[in-house]
Amino acid sequence: MKLPDKLPTHVTLIMDGNGRWAKARGQERIYGHFEGVQSVRAVTEACVEWGIPYVSFYAFSEENWNRPQAEVMGLMELMMKTMRAELPTFMNNGVRFVVLGNRARLSDALNATIDDMMAQTAANARLTLILFMSYSGQWDIRQAAARMAREGGTDIGAYLVTAGFPDPDLLIRTSGEKRISNYMLWQTAYTEFVFTDTLWPDFRKEEFLAALNEFASRDRRFGKVK
Ligand code: IPE
Ligand code: IPE
Ligand code: MG
Repeated sequence: MKLPDKLPTHVTLIMDGNGRWAKARGQERIYGHFEGVQSVRAVTEACVEWGIPYVSFYAFSEENWNRPQAEVMGLMELMMKTMRAELPTFMNNGVRFVVLGNRARLSDALNATIDDMMAQTAANARLTLILFMSYSGQWDIRQAAARMAREGGTDIGAYLVTAGFPDPDLLIRTSGEKRISNYMLWQTAYTEFVFTDTLWPDFRKEEFLAALNEFASRDRRFGKVK
């Protein structure tokens, strides 16, 4: 498959199906999360290579805090380790790393790592990689509305944690689920959706390319007549 001419400026991915992927192999759910990291790498690499300037991943929702403690802890540990390990790659490839979400719920150690990574990669300009952690769309709108009321603003978009970043052009969700699961509710107003049955750990470059081709074939009208 060829790379289409028309690429999204911002592609976002709901990485779903890690648990089912592991279960199908008779393994613990965390094993699926572990393998899912390789898919994040593959997609990030492709974005750098193909010139997509913004990629974001839904890594952990506010609702995911309600999972068994062991899984939550395992995920947090995995994210911290992975982040640190990727720093040299981010520097070599011009990747700016950003975490958005309800950071007050993350541990001090994790927040310190995130702050450090964001500071070190702040000037990188080839690709912006956003990780949504402890994020939910309703939480985002709620915190934006509260701040806006305090400060007397009028543009809610300017108060969302995504302020300053372009809205996603393309949202890909893996694992066959066809729902938004409290992700970027405001920002996806005109986003194109691509759903695939592939489980996240199996989602690699070829699948990503197929989704980009599907995106390129869509006719985006934004409510207008063409
Ligand atoms: C996505 O995979 C990862 C997170 C939500 C953190 P799941 O863990 O939701 O895997 P399934 O959907 O149970 O298979
Ligand atoms: C959505 O996946 C959240 C992330 C991928 C981080 P879930 O597995 O939590 O979504 P539901 O529960 O199937 O809607
Ligand atoms: Mg899931």
